[in-house]
Amino acid sequence: MPRLPSSRRGVVWFRWKILITISTALCILALFCINRQSNSTATTTTLSSSLSVARSRIPLVKYSGDRPKLAFLFLARRDLPLDFLWDRFFKSADQRNFSIYVHSIPGFVFDESSTRSHFFYNRQLKNSIEVVWGESSMIAAERLLLASALEDPSNQRFVLLSDSCVPLYDFGYIYRYLVSSPKSFVDSFLDKDNRYTMKMFPVIRKEKWRKGSQWISLIRSHAEVIVNDDTVFPVFQKFCKRSLPLDPRKNWLYLKKRRHNCIPDEHYVQTLLTVSTNSYQNLPFSSSISNPLIFRIHFLHPNLDGLFRCVAWKMKWNGEQ
Ligand SMILES: *[C@@H]1O[C@H](CO)[C@@H](O)[C@H](O)[C@H]1NC(C)=O
Repeated sequence: MPRLPSSRRGVVWFRWKILITISTALCILALFCINRQSNSTATTTTLSSSLSVARSRIPLVKYSGDRPKLAFLFLARRDLPLDFLWDRFFKSADQRNFSIYVHSIPGFVFDESSTRSHFFYNRQLKNSIEVVWGESSMIAAERLLLASALEDPSNQRFVLLSDSCVPLYDFGYIYRYLVSSPKSFVDSFLDKDNRYTMKMFPVIRKEKWRKGSQWISLIRSHAEVIVNDDTVFPVFQKFCKRSLPLDPRKNWLYLKKRRHNCIPDEHYVQTLLTVSTNSYQNLPFSSSISNPLIFRIHFLHPNLDGLFRCVAWKMKWNGEQ
């Protein structure tokens, strides 16, 4: 390399000095900005978290009574065809130990003409909505049931069931089993389907995506997480939609087009509780959620340990009314 004349070397050195000074200044400025931004996001997060607590419709009452209730939440298409079995079940119970909530089509009334069990009289939610299988109206209805049941502070365990579930044990056994457990019973697992979409990011990260049965039993703090959820639910409404037709014989038509298919009720509670395990860690009612409080199965599906059994009826949700 030819050596540069010394005057030229001086100029080059001077330019280097300017460049270094400018870069250092830019670096400091960038660091300053990053710091300020992360501070402000930190404040917004805590602010919005506490806002969502403040906004919650459910007062965070601590139950101090000695008679915790088991809340039975029935998600029905119309009537409850197995009401005669449930009638026997509830007759063996202490009436102070349980409560019943039913979500059925709007306007449906449970009375002498529509059910064989007086336990269901007037237990239909006043604010029920039209539910279509595979759409977010299903999880919206679940949230309505939980919200109603949370209004009674003595409800301490929440069992979500369909109109085709039956109990496999007597009331006393199921009551002791669920009330003595400090955990929720939620079937939750990783699945290799393609129902997750990057559009759900960053509210839902791929590694938090879960699948499981819709029929669950929850402890109160988990029921509160679901009712107070105002971040994951809107993402499900927007990006988790059924693409398959309600008539399974027409599936091939849709599979050809490869539309994104997602069934909200098979993922919502499981994914939300997985997401909330971190994001709710610093909130007052979180202490019980920060531990892995969720059992896998125990419940439904042909499973000897199950407390209830539900008939497979999913495809019957075809809007028949
Ligand atoms: C009702 O609840 C009380 C208090 O938790 C319990 O001791 C009792 O065994 C329950 N009765 C039935 C039939 O479940």
